[in-house]
Amino acid sequence: MADVKLSELHKYYGNVHAVRGVDLTIADGEFAVLVGPSGCGKSTLLRTIAGLEDLDGGTITIGGAVVNDLRPRERNIAMVFQNYALYPYLTVNENIAFGLRARKTPEIEIRKRVSEAAEMLGIGNFLQRYPRQLSGGQRQRVAIGRAIVRKADLFLFDEPLSNLDAQLRDEMRTEIKRLHHEITTTMIYVTHDQVEAMTLADRIVLLRDGKIEQQGAPLELFEQPRTGFVAGFLGSPSINLIPATLKANGAGAAVVFQSGDALTLPKARAESLINADGQQVLVGIRPQHFSRAGGPLRDGVVPYSAVADLIQPTGTRTFTTIKIGGFDAVAELQAHDVSSHGERIDLAIDLNRVVLIDPASGLVIA
Ligand SMILES: Nc1ncnc2c1ncn2[C@@H]1O[C@H](COP(=O)(O)OP(=O)(O)OP(=O)(O)O)[C@@H](O)[C@H]1O
Ligand SMILES: [Mg+2]
Repeated sequence: MADVKLSELHKYYGNVHAVRGVDLTIADGEFAVLVGPSGCGKSTLLRTIAGLEDLDGGTITIGGAVVNDLRPRERNIAMVFQNYALYPYLTVNENIAFGLRARKTPEIEIRKRVSEAAEMLGIGNFLQRYPRQLSGGQRQRVAIGRAIVRKADLFLFDEPLSNLDAQLRDEMRTEIKRLHHEITTTMIYVTHDQVEAMTLADRIVLLRDGKIEQQGAPLELFEQPRTGFVAGFLGSPSINLIPATLKANGAGAAVVFQSGDALTLPKARAESLINADGQQVLVGIRPQHFSRAGGPLRDGVVPYSAVADLIQPTGTRTFTTIKIGGFDAVAELQAHDVSSHGERIDLAIDLNRVVLIDPASGLVIA
């Protein structure tokens, strides 16, 4: 068990400044997920923690001890990669036990740990098989088994599920979450999949160009993004960002689109926006904040009449493309709320959680 502290970490590959001053504290037992677009430095950051990359600056502390000068095997870290190469000529049992044998662990202890891990991962019946006789998900579990028998202080995962099909990914994601509940070891998990990040994390660390853009609990990042980048990265379908001009006076506030349409913002927002009167903004409305209008509207919910363009049913919900202020926006409606292209639909938009972004700085202003 261990907490992890990163301070002022820097890593260069030649001219590429891959990690640019990362400060991060992960509590003992916490499940932290590093997420961000391809190339933002997630794997590099993880590999520096593991000791697989040398640092160009900064300090890594694990369990209170600075590990900068320790070699990977001295850091007591277990790592599961995307390409979890298993030894093809060893059985599942021998694959899981491999690291323990290499460390000269007594046989009786090896047997105990392997059977515990296999039990926890539901692969007890496959111990005598070879990797080629397993499905992708079963192989993935063997790779995780190999890591957990080590009783490491810290688990690092780098996109361990990206080779699996969608259904298996969902299953394994649940298993990894359950595993963390059972063994409560600190975990740092890298993914570029925002759904994986949201569902697994105690804390999401969203990276962008080698820096932390924002970190916090999943719903905190989702509901209170500090930048347009965070708002746009989390959520599927993505948040709609529509250019508009803000009008605000003491009596109220509204966003006016280039088409001339306007939406009145909730009263609670008006006061803080007086100074931003006349400012250009991107109006961020999540697809989930649309619904079919019906009955009286709550405070902060406004009516909007639109024409359904593309209709994408998912079974549970139907994603419908409409125009707002002349721009395409996606509304997530109930499965049967809309039936045909070109249909006029009366919508309600909940603006209580609208985010307004300054397009110049990318910062959320309200
Ligand atoms: N060995 C290397 N030599 C040179 N540049 C590298 C090396 N490894 C990574 N980089 C660069 O460092 C940056 C960060 O790479 P990294 O692999 O950490 O990204 P990532 O966030 O893990 O991306 P992905 O989601 O695609 O795996 C990228 O610009 C990448 O091209
Ligand atoms: Mg990577």
